[in-house]
Amino acid sequence: MNFHVMTLFPGLIDNAMGESITGRAIKAGYISVNAVNIRDFAGNRSGSVDDYPYGGGAGMVMKAEPVYMCYKYICGQIQERNQGTAENRKPPVRVVYLTPQGRTFSQKLAAEYADEEDIIFLCGHYEGIDERVIEEIVTDYVSIGDYVLTGGELPALVMMDAISRLVPGVLNNCISAQTESFSGSLLEYPQYTRPEHWRDRSVPPVLLSGNHKKLAEWYREQSVIRTALMRPDLLENAELTQEERELADSIINNL
Ligand code: ADE
Repeated sequence: MNFHVMTLFPGLIDNAMGESITGRAIKAGYISVNAVNIRDFAGNRSGSVDDYPYGGGAGMVMKAEPVYMCYKYICGQIQERNQGTAENRKPPVRVVYLTPQGRTFSQKLAAEYADEEDIIFLCGHYEGIDERVIEEIVTDYVSIGDYVLTGGELPALVMMDAISRLVPGVLNNCISAQTESFSGSLLEYPQYTRPEHWRDRSVPPVLLSGNHKKLAEWYREQSVIRTALMRPDLLENAELTQEERELADSIINNL
């Protein structure tokens, strides 16, 4: 997976992605991050990339040409890398514009993006980006939730984090990506580690039993209970047995 980010703050992207699990995944070659500074394509000595909006109004708007030139530069990089390979015949790379007006990001969408070879993110700032360049290059509009941030960098980081951990090899424990929250529309069961007794709380005895069948049943039951308590809306799409459905309903009815 090769992430490309058009941004005015490449350091923000590089620093965040260079830490922890994504940092290790970059070093191991499972993912790459190419943060490109839109300001490098300003085409003027002052490096200004924004201007006043036509029609007036508060704030500044990012100009079309620097964004477009930055996009063409990244396309050139991708094309050069794919020269003479089968990748060259692939459909055009998806360009994701981070905006509160987009479709809400989800685990399902993360899984869809994880199949791509390259993704280009466009991070806006100021009051927005000249609509003409958005129309010209953007294929996907994505929001990370119903609130407004100062720019697209944090949403791009959220998306890259969620996508990266679905790329084979990034999590050393491939089971954890399958059993965790949202897979199968259920939340993850609770986890415990040593000591066995902490203050006046003990680890559930089944976890010490070593009985794998009982353990699997407990994990599943806890996932159903947790989802019914915390996110009952998710149960609509969950595949539950009759018994599990009754358990969930009894919890919801007693809330
Ligand atoms: N840019 C500003 N706010 C945003 C949000 N909630 N999601 C995606 N991009 C954004």
